[in-house]
Amino acid sequence: MNLPMASSNGVISVRNFWVLMGLCFALSSMAGMVQSTPKFDELFQPTFASDHFIYEGDDVLKMKLDYTSGAGFQSKSKYMFGKVTVQIKLVEGDSAGTVTAFYMSSDGPTHNEFDFEFLGNSTGEPYVVQTNVYVNGVGNREQRLNLWFDPSKDFHNYSIYWHPRQVVFLVDDTPVRVHSNLEHIGIPFPKDQAMGVYSSIWNADDWATQGGRVKTDWSHAPFIASYKGFQIDACECPATLAASDNVKKCSSSNEKKYWWDEPTLGELNLHQNHQLIWVRANHMIYDYCSDTARFPATPLECQHHRHQLKLN
Ligand SMILES: *[C@@H]1O[C@H](CO)[C@@H](O)[C@H](O)[C@H]1NC(C)=O
Ligand SMILES: *[C@@H]1O[C@H](CO)[C@@H](O)[C@H](O)[C@H]1NC(C)=O
Repeated sequence: MNLPMASSNGVISVRNFWVLMGLCFALSSMAGMVQSTPKFDELFQPTFASDHFIYEGDDVLKMKLDYTSGAGFQSKSKYMFGKVTVQIKLVEGDSAGTVTAFYMSSDGPTHNEFDFEFLGNSTGEPYVVQTNVYVNGVGNREQRLNLWFDPSKDFHNYSIYWHPRQVVFLVDDTPVRVHSNLEHIGIPFPKDQAMGVYSSIWNADDWATQGGRVKTDWSHAPFIASYKGFQIDACECPATLAASDNVKKCSSSNEKKYWWDEPTLGELNLHQNHQLIWVRANHMIYDYCSDTARFPATPLECQHHRHQLKLN
């Protein structure tokens, strides 16, 4: 094609038009790199290494792990009860040695915490999802599962549903773990400390993959976890309120009823029960409740765990 040469009379030539278009495109993609996604900005902020954040369009956030650093974000507010969901697409290809975590946690030495930890693996080997629950500063309640899909190929929904009677971990709305309130038999349940929502990616090759035998191969860095669809549907707890006032604010009353206080939402429905039993039968690879080497006496909460039983 014969492009007209740059004109000097103020008319934009075809060639200059394309140069301008290229410039606009470059500027808008640069803007995309420095801006953030509106939903992420509304709810979250980076906790460290904001130079390891990549914003794509206005809905996808990527965090990268390289030899110099991982990255992390946290919610701007703290919450009690409700449901928190993010869509995550985990590190593709070789993710051995890396851990990507999505969790809720309160502060202090007697903190509570609900964890999803995604343990990377060598190319072609399956990711492992580890969940854990800390109550009053004590964890040691690990469960591990593999998934019924490859979590590095597409975005999937990971949710934590926190109810005064149960904590439920969900993958694409399928419950994969329930931690029930057993206060009636004297077991403490996390329901009086507001929690933040967190995520991070870091190098954990001392333990993550095949017990630490497979190390991070830095020649495959950067390792990138992608996020979108940030949703927090929970009771927000102002930092200025005392803990007991937050409990009061986040309990349903005559004036205000929270959606999770529907009587039916305090336990799994029949369909969800069947889903959980299916997950436990087909995808669970470790459960602290049955680790007799670690816990010679079965933890009391495990003895009362309804989903240990397989229904016929
Ligand atoms: C995740 O949730 C969103 C919003 O509800 C939905 O559009 C999407 O299909 C879900 N993704 C999967 C893999 O289920
Ligand atoms: C990695 O793959 C190996 C072999 O398939 C498997 O035994 C292991 O559980 C996988 N996950 C982790 C985190 O090691």
